[in-house]
Amino acid sequence: MKEMKIVKTPYEKHIFVCCNVKADGTGCGTRGGEELRVELKKQGLEKGLTKLRVNRSGCLGFCEESIAVAVYPEGKFMLDVKVEGVRLEDF
Ligand code: FES
Repeated sequence: MKEMKIVKTPYEKHIFVCCNVKADGTGCGTRGGEELRVELKKQGLEKGLTKLRVNRSGCLGFCEESIAVAVYPEGKFMLDVKVEGVRLEDF
């Protein structure tokens, strides 16, 4: 087996927005997860933050408090995040 490679992250901040849609039709993806991801990414681009990454995530385990967002390197979870009025600087 080939050895795995480990590299240091090139990002200063990495935001994972849950966009999951569960089999029962619930989940962050049904509450605006993708719209939130797009908005945060847009704000990052407008601010010229080249070391920010905003990615889609699968379920983060906080489905009842969605939209759930994980933020690194802080390692914090932000729950019940709303798209309306969201500000990147709050992450
Ligand atoms: S579906 Fe988003 S945290 Fe579970």
